[in-house]
Amino acid sequence: MKENFCPPSVALYALKSSRGEPGILHKLREETDKLPEAGMMISPLQAHFLSFLIQWGRVKTVLEIGTFTGYSSLAMALALPEEGMCVTLDKDEEWARIAKKYWEVAGVSHKISLHLGLAHKTLETLKGPFDMAFVDADKQRYGIYYEFALKLVRPGGLLVFDNTLRYGTVVDESNQEETPRSLRGFNAQLRDDKRIEPLLLPLADGLTLGIKR
Ligand SMILES: C[S@@+](CC[C@H](N)C(=O)[O-])C[C@H]1O[C@@H](n2cnc3c(N)ncnc32)[C@H](O)[C@@H]1O
Repeated sequence: MKENFCPPSVALYALKSSRGEPGILHKLREETDKLPEAGMMISPLQAHFLSFLIQWGRVKTVLEIGTFTGYSSLAMALALPEEGMCVTLDKDEEWARIAKKYWEVAGVSHKISLHLGLAHKTLETLKGPFDMAFVDADKQRYGIYYEFALKLVRPGGLLVFDNTLRYGTVVDESNQEETPRSLRGFNAQLRDDKRIEPLLLPLADGLTLGIKR
C-alpha cells in the first residue's frame, strides 16, 4: 500500500478505523497492482478522503484529470448521489478498459463519463460548473490544469491536486529535476493566489486542496 509520509502499518490502522476499503475497490486495486505502473493509483486512505469530502460537501459533479485504471473515479462515483456525475479525462485507452469493467460491476457506470484524449484539449470543450476537481495527471501541466479547473469549478467549490510533495523531493531546493522544480513553482503559485484558499496536506504523496473563492 502506498503511504509515503506514514508507516504502512499506521496507514492501514487509519484506514481500518475509517471503515476500510470497499470490496470492489479492493479488487480493482489488486488487479491494478499487477501492472508495472500500479504506483500511479491513489492510496486507499486518499480514496476514502475524497469520498468523505464528496459526502460532506454534498458534491454532485466532479471533474477528474487522470483516470488510469479507474480507482479514484470509482471511489468518487460510489460516494456521489444517484444523479451525480464524475467526468474523467485520460489519454490511455488500454487502462480505461480495466476501469470500465469495474465501474460496470460496481453499478456506477451511469455516474462516470470518460473522455479519452489529451486532457488540455478535452478541457477546452468542457462546460462547468463542477462542484469539485481532482487533478492527478502529468505534473508538468498542473499549472495549465489549475487554470482550467478554476474556470470550470463553481465559487465555493473544491480543487484537489495529488502528488504535490513528490516523495518529499520538492523540499530540497538543490534538486532541479523537472518534476520537483515545476511542483515547487506550482505549490508557491497556489499559496500566493488570492483566487483560492489553499491547504497542502502531507497525505500519501502530498494532496493540495483549494477552495475557490
Ligand atoms: C497518476 S495516474 C492517475 C491515477 C488515478 N487517479 C488513480 O488514482 O487510479 C495519471 C494518469 O494521467 C494520464 N495522463 C498523463 N498525461 C496526460 C495527458 N496529457 N492527457 C490525459 N491524460 C494524461 C495517464 O495516462 C495516467 O493514466
